[in-house]
Amino acid sequence: MPQIPVKVHELTVGQLSARSGAAVSALHFYEAKGLISSRRTSGNQRRYGRDALRRVAFVRAAQRVGIPLATIRDALAELPEERTPTREDWARLSENWRSELDARIKQLGRLRDHLTDCIGCGCLSLETCVLSNPDDVIGEQISGSRLMGEKRKG
Ligand code: FES
Repeated sequence: MPQIPVKVHELTVGQLSARSGAAVSALHFYEAKGLISSRRTSGNQRRYGRDALRRVAFVRAAQRVGIPLATIRDALAELPEERTPTREDWARLSENWRSELDARIKQLGRLRDHLTDCIGCGCLSLETCVLSNPDDVIGEQISGSRLMGEKRKG
């Protein structure tokens, strides 16, 4: 990984890409989503502050554990004066995201277990296939309309 001399205060997109391991296209995407920012030179080239390295590392680490970009952006936006996340910020945010991850892992476990029933079936029935209708929307609609019907009768 190329080293950046300490006296360099700004990075080109290529330097940021090489140092962070993120593709140039990913950096442009992050910028379009408001996760990082740059200034433009007189020749309209992007220049990033050195703190962009840490922001990119933060974004990539959060993405690796499945945190949506919108959630990451909201977390970054909540930091005072949009500062780069510190070690303490990362510790706090990752702790908050842990319960979200636990819930997602639990849900994936349930879906995996139901997938076993689907293997070799292929019906994708909204009435019987849990993966086609994971929240049992049809069942809720049926019981809801039955309840409404019962209320009307009464
Ligand atoms: S595909 Fe038939 S039960 Fe899921």
